Amino acid sequence: MSGEISIIGSVILALFLAGYLGQQYLPPPKPRVIGLDLGTTFCSVGVFLPGSGEVEVIADEEGRKSIPSAVSFTSTAVLAGYEAMDVADSNPQNTVYDAKRFIGKIFEPGLLEQESARYPFQVINNNGSAEFVIFTNHTFTVSPEFIGSRLLLRLKKMAERQLGVPIQKAVISVPAEFDERQRNYTVRAANLAGLEILRVINEPTAAAMAYGLHKVDVFNVLVVDLGGGTLDVSLLNKQGGMFLTRAMAGNNKLGGQDFSQRLFQYTSERVRQQFGITPTLKEDIYHLRQAVEAAKLNLTLHPSASITALLHLHTHDGSESPEGPAAVRFQAMVTRELFEELNEDLFQKILVPVKTVLAEGHLEKEDVDEIVLVGGSTRIPRIRQLISEYFGKEPNTSVDPDLAVVTGVAIQAGIMGGSWPLQVSAIEIPNRHLRKMNFS
Ligand SMILES: *[C@@H]1O[C@H](CO)[C@@H](O)[C@H](O)[C@H]1NC(C)=O
Ligand SMILES: *[C@@H]1O[C@H](CO)[C@@H](O)[C@H](O)[C@H]1NC(C)=O
Ligand SMILES: *[C@@H]1O[C@H](CO)[C@@H](O)[C@H](O)[C@H]1NC(C)=O
Ligand SMILES: *[C@@H]1O[C@H](CO)[C@@H](O)[C@H](O)[C@H]1NC(C)=O
Ligand SMILES: *[C@@H]1O[C@H](CO)[C@@H](O)[C@H](O)[C@H]1NC(C)=O
Repeated sequence: MSGEISIIGSVILALFLAGYLGQQYLPPPKPRVIGLDLGTTFCSVGVFLPGSGEVEVIADEEGRKSIPSAVSFTSTAVLAGYEAMDVADSNPQNTVYDAKRFIGKIFEPGLLEQESARYPFQVINNNGSAEFVIFTNHTFTVSPEFIGSRLLLRLKKMAERQLGVPIQKAVISVPAEFDERQRNYTVRAANLAGLEILRVINEPTAAAMAYGLHKVDVFNVLVVDLGGGTLDVSLLNKQGGMFLTRAMAGNNKLGGQDFSQRLFQYTSERVRQQFGITPTLKEDIYHLRQAVEAAKLNLTLHPSASITALLHLHTHDGSESPEGPAAVRFQAMVTRELFEELNEDLFQKILVPVKTVLAEGHLEKEDVDEIVLVGGSTRIPRIRQLISEYFGKEPNTSVDPDLAVVTGVAIQAGIMGGSWPLQVSAIEIPNRHLRKMNFS
């Protein structure tokens, strides 16, 4: 009797040991659930690596960790990401971007016609929903979720190539302000790409998770997301292991392109002073904008940067020579100080929604435990300074602000995939009745 028990006992022990040793010495399982950030201008995919406990943001064949959110239709192919951008200049009316601004939304009559005027592609109103008209061999329409699906398919393939396993499951992030219908259509985009969505999480929650704030003892987290064209501020409240969005506010007409525009206007005036002509040629404006954009990025790292461009300044129908007048070389040095002066009033506007969410949440600024910065424009030193001065503490900035959301979504994907048996997961309480207030 006791012999039998000891045999069974040692079998169990052996099994237990095998399992234990297996866990120690076998390579960790490949992640099967990916985290997706389908952004307005860029999108990315990440996975949680059970072995190291780190997130890998997956790069494309060229090593780029995010791809432009653009899809281009040609007579022979549907291209997504950088491939779409490569043909965008020669195929502008069939290259759709910004589709996230339309997904799952019902528009008032007339509004979509107005929107269409802002884009080189055609947007039409199909019973309140947006559709894009494509003119290749034949004319057809596609939905915003179809555009989303082509981007997600590209991300899925990047992940499969990197991991070497087929991927069928994902977690995806959406803006906190997305209503149920917008969330549903985002999920539909993923389904069209052959992905089952295990959870939809809010972008600010994902950003907070990227900093591990679901694991530490914090209560109030403020997330400031400043991208190319919009500012979103969210106040999160952690209760138990869950994040609750307490308040949202923003400005959908404030972002990096406005700061570039101020520097462009200044530069254009410098050209006029130097050559007596304001640049109006399309190519000149394009080259000057590119140079201004490069200088803006450079000024986040260096105290000064140069703006250099070859400009024609005259139309080619000039009579002197068939090529028109020769190009002139424009060059100017700009300092960070000048860039800050040109934009100070815009930078100050960032604090408006910050104050609003605090008032909405009945909090004093001292009550905010952590501040998380997301979006490329939060790299601008003056913006970081304004926020840290206002709160009297440093914001969390160690994660690349362009990859904070995908990093957090990948952590959530790791939790859903069971890679985190010992960690408490932070799920969020959906907040149906919250509305985002806009200041612009
Ligand atoms: C469109 O036309 C091109 C050239 O005429 C042809 O090669 C291509 O297969 C056509 N594509 C479709 C989708 O019909
Ligand atoms: C148009 O939309 C309304 C509500 O959004 C819906 O009730 C109606 O069935 C739709 N009509 C068509 C033709 O899809
Ligand atoms: C969203 O999807 C869920 C589940 O499929 C469904 O029950 C709900 O009615 C949908 N809501 C909207 C607004 O489309
Ligand atoms: C940035 O500006 C610095 C200082 O003007 C210059 O040395 C550097 O080459 C610039 N880098 C780029 C990428 O423009
Ligand atoms: C950022 O977040 C971490 C939590 O992971 C925290 O420990 C740290 O103090 C925070 N603040 C700064 C300024 O890094």
